[in-house]
Amino acid sequence: MKKISVYTALIGVSVLAIAFSPVLGAQELRDVNGAVTIQTNEVKADNAELIEMLNEALADEWLAHYQYWVGAKVVVGPLKNELVEQLIEHSEDELRHAGMLADRIIELGGTPLLSPADWFEYSDCGYESPVDPSTESIAQQNLEGELCAIEAYTEILEVIGDSDPVTYDMIYKIRADEIEHAHDLQVILDDLESMDEQGQGAGQGQQGQQGQQGQGAGQGQQGQQGQQGQGAGQGQQGQQGQGAGQGQQGQGNMNQQDMEDKD
Ligand SMILES: [Fe+2]
Ligand SMILES: [Fe+2]
Repeated sequence: MKKISVYTALIGVSVLAIAFSPVLGAQELRDVNGAVTIQTNEVKADNAELIEMLNEALADEWLAHYQYWVGAKVVVGPLKNELVEQLIEHSEDELRHAGMLADRIIELGGTPLLSPADWFEYSDCGYESPVDPSTESIAQQNLEGELCAIEAYTEILEVIGDSDPVTYDMIYKIRADEIEHAHDLQVILDDLESMDEQGQGAGQGQQGQQGQQGQGAGQGQQGQQGQQGQGAGQGQQGQQGQGAGQGQQGQGNMNQQDMEDKD
């Protein structure tokens, strides 16, 4: 987007005060001599690009409004209540921004987008359907939308420069809201991450304790079995050994007796 040329050429170094009349968009300029010049809402050719950019922002705001609105309806998961509160508040803010933009477009002599069908064509930041209704996914999607909006509004501010203080001031305030929205969502995402880490830590702790208990029990059983086994083994071996020895001895005696009988 090329830079909008200055259309408020009436503003000069001699201007002491700038006041805004209640008339939409009319700007009252007073010079050192007290002379007043009213700048009307007359459409200027140079406004065409600015109006186009404001309509792009208008499309983004409507899509963001719905993305927040429907996200608040379907979201599930940890911190749901906290996130829903943010989503509803942001949704209302985006609708308010859309109203501000539409009003300014009209003040500049333009026409706000008349059909929702135009929103996708004009949108810079697009729309992310909350197909994954988890709190983490919805917070992340909307955070990305906010970061895109902040970038888009920063670009509009750069284009406006000092050419249109009224629009500049309005966009600056809208961008401040978007920065706050992004911050709100980042806080929720940080909380979710920390809950995740705590959950994993607790799981590992339980597993560790169970593992140690299991090993301890296993060693105890093995120890008991080992002692019992050794005791039984000694007993059996001893009896078997003695029995076998006696048997052999008995066989030996019998063999000797046999030999004596043979003699
Ligand atoms: Fe917004
Ligand atoms: Fe926002």
